[in-house]
Parts: sequence; C-alpha cells; structure tokens
Amino acid sequence: MALPKRVTLCEMGPRDGLQNETRLVSTDDKIAYIDLLSQTGLTEIEVTSFVNPKAIPQLADAAEVFARIERRPGVRYPVLVPNIKGYQRARAAGADAIAVFTAASEEFTRRNINMTIQESLETFRDVVIAAKRDGVHVRGYISTAFGSPFGDEITPHTVTQLARELMTMGCDELSIGDTIGVGVPNQVEEIAAPLLREFGSEAVALHFHDTRGTALANIYAALQLGVHRFDSSAGGLGGCPYAPGATGNVGTEDVLYMLHTMGIHTGIDLAKIRAASRFIASRLGHPIESRVYTALEAANA
Ligand code: HMG
Ligand code: MG
Repeated sequence: MALPKRVTLCEMGPRDGLQNETRLVSTDDKIAYIDLLSQTGLTEIEVTSFVNPKAIPQLADAAEVFARIERRPGVRYPVLVPNIKGYQRARAAGADAIAVFTAASEEFTRRNINMTIQESLETFRDVVIAAKRDGVHVRGYISTAFGSPFGDEITPHTVTQLARELMTMGCDELSIGDTIGVGVPNQVEEIAAPLLREFGSEAVALHFHDTRGTALANIYAALQLGVHRFDSSAGGLGGCPYAPGATGNVGTEDVLYMLHTMGIHTGIDLAKIRAASRFIASRLGHPIESRVYTALEAANA
C-alpha cells in the first residue's frame, strides 16, 4: 500500500509527559508550555488529566490549566478522564474532548485505575454515554496492547475485543498503546490490521513509548498499513508511573524529522516544537530524550 501523504499527531507532552516527572512544574509554566505547543501547527494536544490528584500529583492543577490555556480554533484539547467524577470536573473546566483509558493487561488495569478490565468498561460506558449526550469527542485508549509489565499474555484478539467494546459504547477513535515500549514491527501488523479493517484508519491512532528504541520502526510499519494517526511527545517525555520500566513517548521531533524527510506532511513546525521542548526542559532538571531534539540542539541548527 502507498504510504499516507499526510499524518496527524496527537501531542502527549503536557499529559503523558508531565505525569511522569517528579519535579513539580508550576501551573503558569504548564500553561506557557501548552500555549507554545498550540502555536506549532499541532491540531491535537492532550493537555492534562482529571484523575485522582493523589494518583498523579503533578496534574492536580488540571482545572486551572485547562481554564487558562489559550485554545486555538481548529485544535482539539483532549483530557484524560477515569470515571464520571473526572468527567464532571473536566466539563466544569470547559473540556469538549476527553480520553478514557482501559488496558489489555488485567494486572496493569488494577494497579493503574483500581478496576478489573470489565469494571473499567462499565465505568467508561457511563462516561461515554454522558459525553455523547454532551457532544464531547472521545478517544479510547487500550494500554499494554503490545505487552504487559507484569508478564500476563496479551493477544491481538484481546485488543480487538476491547476495541469493539470501546467503539460500540461510542468512542470516536481508539489509541492503541505500547505503554512499556516492547513492541516490534510485525506485532504492529498483527494488532493494527484487524482494527483498520473493522474501524477504518480515521478511528485508529497508535501510541508508542520508545523504551527499547523500536518506536520509529513501528511507526514505519504502521504507515505501510495505512495508519496516519500517531501519538508522540515533544522532547520524548512521558511514561506511566503505574507501569514499571515505562519511559518516554516517541519524540515528536523524531517523528516529524522522519515523516518530513520522507515527504509526508503534518502541518507541524519542527522548530516550534523544539522551542516548546527547550522551554519545558529548563523546568524539568534533566536532559531531553528525543534524539532529533538533541542532535539539532548540538548542531545549533
Ligand atoms: P480509587 O481509589 O479506586 O477511587 O481510584 P475511589 O472511587 O475509591 O476514590 C478514591 C478517592 O479518589 C476519593 O477521594 C475520590 O473522591 C477521589 P477521598 O474520598 O479519598 O478524598 N477520586 C477523584 N478525585 C478527583 N478526580 C477524579 C476522582 N476519582 C476518584 N476523577 C481512580 C480509582 C481511577 C480514580 C484512580 O486509580 C486514578 O485516578 N488513577 C489514574 C491513574 C493514571 O492517571 N495513570 C496514568 C494515565 S494512563 C497512561 O499513562 C497510559 C496511556 O498513556 C496510554 C499508554 O501509554 O498505553 C493513556
Ligand atoms: Mg502513554
């Protein structure tokens, strides 16, 4: 199949990125970071989480962040929601796009959201019904789709079944997560091809953490299948505190470098993404992981 001519990225830095940072970033700095990202040409930026603040203290200021960012027309700003309480908080703050999140691993689901997979589906059904009533856009994550940190076996069939549940309850799109960055390209076909056949490429995004350096290879494998929606994080920040060993999402700079050099359009300005990464790096106290960011900074390009 010919590669897609255009790819959409959903930016994860402010949510998946910051949720894994131990140094607290001030609310003003989060807002400045998101506002910088809004000026890059990104059309989707996941900005924060309305989860239990005790579970993710870094994002306890979700309502203030959401209310104070400058929302650009044409940009979608989803927020993570774990239950109806989170949905109500998100709506009160003005959110019109949410993301619910279950997983293919039973043990990960328990540790992450203190539910069985079945309970999570029941919880999210109520959230999605409310969202659809309110005209709110919903993405549905399936985490640990490429492997579990706890050794439980994950099959493509499990992922397809969960995808059906999420789409049937009314999710607008799926994001299939390699939460701990263990996936390899032949798995991409096994997992993504059935989803593309059943739901179409508009409804399937892939979310790669780059823990073992396979994310770009996986994205290339996915492009060959016709996938044109990916999640990535400026600077390569990210990770889930409830998934041992999880490190950052694939860097937005790395994905943009590869796609743009291949002649695939994104509408996103790499230099402006770098500027947002540079800003947040100065607040985090550790080096940025994206290889392309590092290479360009070193070359002062
Ligand atoms: P629980 O303890 O079972 O919940 O947690 P509960 O209903 O018993 O409530 C406990 C307390 O939390 C109560 O407060 C509730 O009011 C409060 P208390 O009475 O103790 O003062 N609470 C809330 N407060 C604010 N907002 C809420 C909310 N819900 C309950 N929405 C729960 C269950 C799901 C809430 C918790 O486990 C949680 O918040 N987990 C979130 C974990 C998380 O954010 N993980 C990272 C995101 S997932 C990820 O990164 C993967 C992804 O990137 C994709 C990939 O990489 O694969 C998406
Ligand atoms: Mg993630």
